[in-house]
Amino acid sequence: SNGGTVMRTPLIAANWKMHKTTGEAARYGQELLEELARRQVSVSASEQGQPGQVAVVVCPPFTALAALGGVLRGSPVALGAQNMHWETSGAYTGEIAAPMLLDLGCRYVILGHSERRQMGETDEQVHRKVRAAAAAGLIPIVCVGERIEERRAGETEAVVTRQVRAAFQHLDAAAVARAVIAYEPVWAIGTGEYASPEEANRVIGLIRATLAGMLGGETAAAVRILYGGSVKPDNIGPFMAQPEIDGALVGGASLDAKAFADIIEQAEVNAA
Ligand code: PGA
Repeated sequence: SNGGTVMRTPLIAANWKMHKTTGEAARYGQELLEELARRQVSVSASEQGQPGQVAVVVCPPFTALAALGGVLRGSPVALGAQNMHWETSGAYTGEIAAPMLLDLGCRYVILGHSERRQMGETDEQVHRKVRAAAAAGLIPIVCVGERIEERRAGETEAVVTRQVRAAFQHLDAAAVARAVIAYEPVWAIGTGEYASPEEANRVIGLIRATLAGMLGGETAAAVRILYGGSVKPDNIGPFMAQPEIDGALVGGASLDAKAFADIIEQAEVNAA
């Protein structure tokens, strides 16, 4: 989407969640590269590509990062993780730090996914992680979105605004400009239900206005804001045609390399 002066390259991100072994990840990587080549999709190797290009990142479980990264190395498809700790090292059993992700070739990291917030991750913890990712040079994909009871109570705007403010407070404009936000209504995740493209565009516009209030319009215009929640090959087009929507975070439909390549192809064709 082109929100005025800044050209934002669309980003299509795969969130595998807790799926796939190392062997499955390597095979998927091969198949995805073949499918993209066959469809002649122009994937940008950098965050800021040429007009008509899309950027792509795949976020497997930690255990498959090395295997998938080995296959994707030298390709324009980026590698990302699904979480990280805010400290760079230390006595944090079971946690993973930003330098470890960089060491495996990660460029992106999903932070504050609703499935983690559901398990107790707080706005404050998400904020620490966003700050740590930015400091390390990793691009955070910060997930925000309302739960069904919040939506029914008319609290969507308040919830999303609070999550965005908390995540990006005290960060400088340069760090925020590189960041990615994914608006994922919790009721749309893994359910087959999805927000209407117009409604998602409206909330994403509100997120951009919140960023503009915090850091100015130029920074807000640079941030890529994705929609997530039951995105499939047959519904990505209308989302991409919306002016504020810069791509998608895809869960279930990203597990199949052909379906994910279909989504990427449709995103490229329909980008506003
Ligand atoms: P879904 O998941 O595409 O399976 O709805 C999206 C997400 O959780 O990021």
